Amino acid sequence: MKKGPFCFLKRRYAITETMKVLGIETSCDETAVAVVTSEKQILANLVLSQMEHEKFGGVVPEIAARAHLTHIDALVREALEESKLTFKDLDGIAVTAGPGLIGGVLVGVMTAKAIAAVHGTPLIGVNHLEGHALTVRLTDDVAFPYLLLLVSGGHCQLLIVEGVGKYKRIGTTIDDAAGEAFDKTSKLLGLGYPGGPAVERMAASCGTPARARKKFPLPKPMVGKPGCDFSFSGLKTAVRRMADALPEEIPQEDLVDICFAFQDVVADVLSDRVKNAIAMYKAQCPDAHALVVAGGVAANKALRSVLEKIAGDAGLRFIAPPLKLCTDNAAMIAWAGMERLQLGMVDAPDFKVHARWPLDPDAPVAQIKSQKV
Ligand code: KG4
Ligand code: ZN
Repeated sequence: MKKGPFCFLKRRYAITETMKVLGIETSCDETAVAVVTSEKQILANLVLSQMEHEKFGGVVPEIAARAHLTHIDALVREALEESKLTFKDLDGIAVTAGPGLIGGVLVGVMTAKAIAAVHGTPLIGVNHLEGHALTVRLTDDVAFPYLLLLVSGGHCQLLIVEGVGKYKRIGTTIDDAAGEAFDKTSKLLGLGYPGGPAVERMAASCGTPARARKKFPLPKPMVGKPGCDFSFSGLKTAVRRMADALPEEIPQEDLVDICFAFQDVVADVLSDRVKNAIAMYKAQCPDAHALVVAGGVAANKALRSVLEKIAGDAGLRFIAPPLKLCTDNAAMIAWAGMERLQLGMVDAPDFKVHARWPLDPDAPVAQIKSQKV
């Protein structure tokens, strides 16, 4: 048991009935505010996606930070109104403290610190990745330890989630993240940003998978290699080469086929790596029971169904959050804050923000070239 104020907090919260935590997320291009309860109710879940970045084909940090600043106060007010709560009813304020675009993170953190200071509310600085990692414990009853495939715009990792704040990373990308590959492919093909949903829509309309695979034989980086690391940059380059060979105005049929071929290869790469990770998870955890997928790319239905099959074949439960809790949101931050609050893991009012913040600080970082952690 921890000493000092944490001990006091633990006792205090054990006797409170239903706790309510406000969550704030501003680490990328979504300004989000939510309220969740210890009974796993989501009282409000507001996400404002900044469309300002679309014309740039990617997120512009300065524009993102300014947009967060413009909208955050109104969203906080609206979330409280929707929850029928006032600041005084809150048991905690949870805010993303990193990793992410630091200007945006600071907007959220300063807002949270101000609310906490004025109302004397406990404050929890949440790792955005922990928000994704624990989402399934908000939506489902999932015990530790579980195997997590975390696939988003900035990250592609395999982790054994042993507890709140306890992560063992067993695989990561050596170059691009899976979501980044979707975004770059989409940009190359002129399908806009964010790329994942656009590529998925195109791929889903492919009625001739065999033709698509034959016409666009893309490489499958890392497949068949030992271990659980990923690589996506070669795939992106191959898509570019194939797209360059097509007419400037790419015919719809080719667009559909290349999107299908790309998504198919991503599915193969993820499957191969996840199978290796399942073997490691089972070897390390006698109570291995679940494969969880989280992060924006986990919203992809084709990838979800491939992963579900792999989990089933391995005798594991497969759990994926509902689609709108896969991409960035504040309910996941509020929930990670709730888990921490219940364990007495509250932060001091002067806690720091982190542009990079690995979930497993002991994991080797040497081979990582472009990940944000
Ligand atoms: O978790 P997230 O919202 O933000 C980060 O923390 O990065 O993930 C965003 C990423 C983007 O790269 C986006 O293209 C991808 O998730 N994404 C998808 C889908 N929806 C979002 N990728 C594939 N299929 C989707 N349906
Ligand atoms: Zn995210």
